[in-house]
Amino acid sequence: MQWLDDRTGLVKLIKSIADHPAAPGVKWKYVFGSAVLTAFLMQVVTGIGLLTTYVPSSGGAYESLQYITDKAPLGAFLRGMHYWGASMMVVLLIIHFLRVFLMGSFKFPRELNWITGVLLMATTLVTAFCGQIVRWDQDAVFGLVVASKMAAHVPLIGTWLAHFIIGGGVVGSYTLSRIFDMHVIVLPTLLASLIGLHVYLVLRNGVSEPPVPGRGVDPATYRSDYHDMLRKEGVPFWPTVVLRDFVFATGVVLVVLLLAWLVGARELGHPPDPSLINAHPRPDWYFWWLFAVLALLPHALENFFMIALPLLIGLVLLSVPLVSNRGERHPARRPLAVAVVVFIFSGIVALTVAGWHENWSPRVNASPLTADIIGASSGPVYEGAMVFNNMGCLFCHTIEGHGGKRGPNLTWIADRLTRDQLTLRIMNGAYNMPVFGRILSTAETENLLDFLSTRKKFGFETGKQQSVVRPSGPLTHAALHASEELAIINSAHP
Ligand code: HEC
Repeated sequence: MQWLDDRTGLVKLIKSIADHPAAPGVKWKYVFGSAVLTAFLMQVVTGIGLLTTYVPSSGGAYESLQYITDKAPLGAFLRGMHYWGASMMVVLLIIHFLRVFLMGSFKFPRELNWITGVLLMATTLVTAFCGQIVRWDQDAVFGLVVASKMAAHVPLIGTWLAHFIIGGGVVGSYTLSRIFDMHVIVLPTLLASLIGLHVYLVLRNGVSEPPVPGRGVDPATYRSDYHDMLRKEGVPFWPTVVLRDFVFATGVVLVVLLLAWLVGARELGHPPDPSLINAHPRPDWYFWWLFAVLALLPHALENFFMIALPLLIGLVLLSVPLVSNRGERHPARRPLAVAVVVFIFSGIVALTVAGWHENWSPRVNASPLTADIIGASSGPVYEGAMVFNNMGCLFCHTIEGHGGKRGPNLTWIADRLTRDQLTLRIMNGAYNMPVFGRILSTAETENLLDFLSTRKKFGFETGKQQSVVRPSGPLTHAALHASEELAIINSAHP
């Protein structure tokens, strides 16, 4: 030990870290940062394991993953650990991040702890994104194609950016080499360096003491007060604090092991094939909110936001400790900060749920309309409903709960549109609605129109009878009037 310490000074360094007093009262709220580190180390270890078999070439990647998943001993388990480890790392990062923000731990003198933390978060997410690409199945490749097409629309640097992402003009071997290089060398090295810097800053500035309402941060006196407090009430880092971190980190590893064992990694999609257009690109869950934003935005803003939104979020986060690095730390005295967190967090949760439902994608497995809903089991109305089932209308439009939600609900479409208007829509299409003018035969179109004309809440019953149904429930005079008017319009088109 003496020899080692004489040559390196490491023993004394480690001893001084172990002996240093930590702020009292930090307890279990402070275990998340070290747990992120544990998750990162787990990713390194399982990643190295996967690297022994994964083949980073566009011709071999998919098969090697198939081999890992289906044949290699414990391969599926290892993939599961790497997959769930990534999710775990993101979850812990978010909790750690919220804890630090809500407790005002980013204030003086820990501004750079926060800034390196934000950079760590961004780097982690980019690494995770590249990890999803090296899965190299149809969804991964298609997602990358979409992403690079969008990047190409960025003003001035668009083309360059798209080429940078995919390594040239087309997605192929160069693309995978590039993303693989990012995922296993560039980004992990960057992560490790940032983690080193972050931990160094945590040691240098000490962990923040739990905030007390009314006791704000004053840069002029903070450090001397902090050191006084450590001298009087500090708890030993080793073993008290380390033990808590260790127990929690063990729990984290066990949860990942359990998920890998019971659930396993995300299934491999189809092998990549650029000629297939029915791919269903879908990122892993922590990107669903962004996916939802891009899908729900008006088309014209999509390309702009794809780059601008993450950039803007990053800049805002980086500037937090520069805008406010003193004063109250306790959440009870920072209502605006808490309100902002609640607002943004619930927004992201809502968008994540929207990303999960994915109503903007056509639902190709929608269950077809039944005779019950159609109100007939033969004749033109029935035939028209079959056209609706079979020509893809169902994928995008719902009728009485059956169908996708890409386009408007057509349950009561005949209340809204006349037969002529319906014809126009179907023949000419609209934004995101295909043109059916050349796809449907005249007979099919007529049957379809017959069917859609029955979709009336006010006016006529479904089916062919033309009897007027008295609307039930409270109805304004205006609505009744409108339904009569619609009935007149409808009778003008036998
Ligand atoms: C790829 C998805 C998609 C498919 C397939 C599709 N539609 Fe649409 N449809 C849409 C969208 C999106 C709109 C809304 C367009 C707009 O913004 O005006 C729409 C609008 C309509 C409207 C006007 C609704 C209203 O409330 O104004 C009708 C009627 C319609 N579609 C009928 C059909 C029929 C019939 C079929 C099958 C032959 C069909 N659609 C197939 C996506 C689709």
